[in-house]
Amino acid sequence: MEDKPLSTARAGQQGLVAGAWHSKDRPGRPGSAAGIMTRTRADRRDSVPGPAAPVVWNMQDLDSAHRLSVAPMLDWTDRACRGFHRRLSRRALLYTEMVTAPAVIHGDRARLLDHDAAEHPVSLQLGGSDPAELAEATRIAGDRGYAEINLNVGCPSDRVQSGCFGAVLMKTPALVAECVAAMQVASPVEVTVKCRIGVDDQDPAVVLPGFLSVLEQAGVRRVIIHARKAWLQGLSPRENREIPPLDYPLVHAMKAAFPRLRLSINGGIGSLQQLCEHLAVMDGVMVGRAAYHEPWAILGQADALWAETPPFSDPLDAARAMRGEIARHLERGGRMHQITRHMLGLFHGRPGARAWRRILSERGSSGGLPDYDAALAAVEGDAA
Ligand SMILES: Cc1cc2nc3c(=O)[nH]c(=O)nc-3n(C[C@H](O)[C@H](O)[C@H](O)COP(=O)(O)O)c2cc1C
Repeated sequence: MEDKPLSTARAGQQGLVAGAWHSKDRPGRPGSAAGIMTRTRADRRDSVPGPAAPVVWNMQDLDSAHRLSVAPMLDWTDRACRGFHRRLSRRALLYTEMVTAPAVIHGDRARLLDHDAAEHPVSLQLGGSDPAELAEATRIAGDRGYAEINLNVGCPSDRVQSGCFGAVLMKTPALVAECVAAMQVASPVEVTVKCRIGVDDQDPAVVLPGFLSVLEQAGVRRVIIHARKAWLQGLSPRENREIPPLDYPLVHAMKAAFPRLRLSINGGIGSLQQLCEHLAVMDGVMVGRAAYHEPWAILGQADALWAETPPFSDPLDAARAMRGEIARHLERGGRMHQITRHMLGLFHGRPGARAWRRILSERGSSGGLPDYDAALAAVEGDAA
């Protein structure tokens, strides 16, 4: 894909032009009516040829969106997943999967970076540790409408460690500061960091405040803290999300120690009730697995956090609303499974959950709308 500013027409297709966001233009599209779509640069040059200016999100709206964010999750939070999650919540901030800086620079940019305006607000997560590469990737991604560009300092996988980025960067805060400084110069889009409380034998009570202090001095405003260490040897990434103990009090203490930083907490938060307890202390809460596996319990009710009525009063209505989306996806040559694999947990803990999951799992990859309708009918039957 081209490495040059988007044409205005193209930018319009991607929702980078302010006019494309108004609810009257996109009737019924999730998110379109929310104040969150306000942007500081109201670029209304739809009919004027020329490059689109990068869009900078209104910080207050971004602060608000951060009350609940859905974590970056490789292989999970792809476009289809974000489209589904956005249906459930107009307000939550959605993260992409991690994309490495070299992939953005040398890879298929359309596949890696394109997304629908209806998904917004979306944050792009980058992986890398080379300031020049990260700056270049940020410059490339910066005019694509992302609300924020986030640097991954939390992933413990071997592949990521051998590339010397992710959680291992907790050991080199000065390098992280260099990276974010380079990224900030490359684009006006806000640069944030997602980190752990430490790695290996580091003492989190010492390392975390030191790390945050370096970030703050580098001009970072917002950090998402996964409230457990990463153990870089001997644990799989999955085990690294479960075995190192969570330390919520330490993360809460960081908010008092760094009042000017916007801090979100992440890790093991499984209900809106827990989320609200953290929000009493923190600026934001990031939820990963619970939002993915139990999307109705987390996202279906989430808009109440912004004192708004959630888009659906019942998961069945959400499932019915997704039918049109799936039909369009099939018409474009996509496979049903690409969307429905993210929807298996929609009825978690409710009547019809097993039938829904079974029908979509068994028939999703080769299935079509009749199979989707069969899954809907099974839930309707069980719920009756
Ligand atoms: C399948 C999967 C993929 C993940 N991929 C990423 C990733 O790309 N970048 C990242 O920073 N964290 C990644 N994570 C970690 C999550 O963002 C989050 O920090 C972690 O799951 C803890 O939050 P939770 O307990 O709410 O799930 C991943 C987690 C899962 C389950």
